[in-house]
Amino acid sequence: MKTHFLVVALLAAGTLSSCAKKPQPEAATPPAPVAAPPAAPVLQPKTGEPVAPVEAPKVADQAMVELGKKLFFDPRLSKSGFISCNSCHNLSMGGSDNLKSSIGHKWKQGPINSPTVLNSSMNLAQFWDGRAKDLKEQAGGPIANPGEMGFTHDLAVTVLQSIPAYVDEFKKVFQADTIDIDKVTTAIAAFEETLVTPNARFDKWLRGDDAAITKEELAGYELFKSSGCTACHNGVALGGNSFQKMGAVEPYKTKNPASGRSAVTKDDADRFKFKVPTLRNVELTYPYFHDAGAATLSKAVEVMGQIQLGKTFTVEENANIVAFLKSLTGDQPKFELPQLPPSSDTTPLPQPFGK
Ligand code: HEC
Ligand code: HEC
Repeated sequence: MKTHFLVVALLAAGTLSSCAKKPQPEAATPPAPVAAPPAAPVLQPKTGEPVAPVEAPKVADQAMVELGKKLFFDPRLSKSGFISCNSCHNLSMGGSDNLKSSIGHKWKQGPINSPTVLNSSMNLAQFWDGRAKDLKEQAGGPIANPGEMGFTHDLAVTVLQSIPAYVDEFKKVFQADTIDIDKVTTAIAAFEETLVTPNARFDKWLRGDDAAITKEELAGYELFKSSGCTACHNGVALGGNSFQKMGAVEPYKTKNPASGRSAVTKDDADRFKFKVPTLRNVELTYPYFHDAGAATLSKAVEVMGQIQLGKTFTVEENANIVAFLKSLTGDQPKFELPQLPPSSDTTPLPQPFGK
């Protein structure tokens, strides 16, 4: 993998520097070691679009990311020793659990649909109601939530502190002898920042590759724009950057008691406003809406048209928008499954059953 990147980087560097060089007489040019690809047509990136392509993540501290990855997958951060972040944000399934509401400690039913962790670093705040300001603040929540991982921060830290390989790794990453919850959430957030999904076919189109999406997908995008979906779903993530009323034109009917943004602001004007979800990888993150009221993408588009815009789409229009939304699936995170260090004789035992 690394070697591959290196070769690409070297080739890219070679191309750049050769631009600056004076043209060489043909005969003097030695045969290139790798056959040069046919000159690619110069792509004209689209301008003035309400959506921008996802950039590949920049990793500042690889050791921190590796530690955060282990913690994201480590079920020993839960009371049962069974539930990890990945249980509800399964990175093999678009960073979600594809359930109506998550299953937490002792099989408790969660109150709300789990959003994807993919591209969550782009959100203006975390959770449907935005009650955590960033990923680091968010990451402390589920560990101590009785309905999720059912643990306490102190116990989670005690468990990690009892595992010598973790102590060494935290020392290496943070230059500190002790582990605390702040370091745990810092590392998890650093890992989550790498969970972005570049290279969706739609992004290739934005970058000027007209053949990257089909006629139907393009028609779907045009309709998505002209209908007004982009008033709320815009920017790199097509969402994540504002709180908006669910039911802007017509009320949304649900039995779910979540009140949305007003739970945080205590302002009645914010009742039933939710963070606009990203539409990146939305093909993978069914079911939809905070209450999972829409099982399929087609249903979600139908409901959005009606209650946010007062529009009823024809079957063909709906299918085109759905096709467009499916072109937003990007490269999923690729990495080796982390190997977690074994517990020691002093590690507190997991408590999957009982009180
Ligand atoms: C039992 C299932 C469960 C577990 C375990 C869990 N989460 Fe979540 N996660 C959820 C649910 C449900 C929400 C939405 C809650 C809400 O908005 O009120 C959520 C929200 C989030 C969000 C916010 C995303 C957004 O768009 O707002 C992030 C980030 C996140 N979780 C990361 C984590 C991390 C990191 C861990 C491990 C420390 C974790 N989760 C463990 C179910 C879970
Ligand atoms: C007024 C703002 C607004 C407009 C306009 C809007 N949306 Fe949404 N959209 C939202 C909000 C807010 C949610 C989350 C609501 C909830 O779960 O309660 C959402 C959710 C969605 C979801 C589900 C995503 C998920 O992960 O659960 C899809 C799909 C979607 N919108 C597509 C569209 C389409 C297509 C249009 C245009 C026909 C559109 N939206 C117009 C605000 C808007």
